[in-house]
Amino acid sequence: MPGWFSDIDLRLFVELDRIQKDNGITGDILEIGAYCGKSAILLGHLIAPGERLLVCDLFNENERTSSANREENDRWYEGFRREDFENHYLRFHASLPELLVCPSTEIDRDALGRELPLGTYRR
Ligand SMILES: C[S@@+](CC[C@H](N)C(=O)[O-])C[C@H]1O[C@@H](n2cnc3c(N)ncnc32)[C@H](O)[C@@H]1O
Repeated sequence: MPGWFSDIDLRLFVELDRIQKDNGITGDILEIGAYCGKSAILLGHLIAPGERLLVCDLFNENERTSSANREENDRWYEGFRREDFENHYLRFHASLPELLVCPSTEIDRDALGRELPLGTYRR
């Protein structure tokens, strides 16, 4: 599958997930930049029941981004479509994650984030 997610990235994600689960850290996952879904497919396996996977990508559909960003996308992701992501993802999962088709700068962090008490991540 085309993408930029290497074996070492995969091992890191799995290890981080193990550490979080061992420490009772729960919550949704937001991926910014999915391309054909290599990393998202793994993240879809790592989310626990009750957690959500959200994926933000332009999917070459959204023009509300800077000219530099457009240039980068034209260079690296030309021809890439949302269906490419969906078809690959559905080979491994029964349903799609929640898709945010917008520039990552438009993500509403107040709506998606949550307040954690200070020291939540300290042991
Ligand atoms: C390097 S690829 C991601 C690789 C992917 N995680 C994988 O597993 O192969 C970067 C992705 O970011 C998306 N992208 C580029 N600019 C973006 C922006 N401003 N907001 C959201 N997504 C963007 C591109 O459409 C592309 O799919």
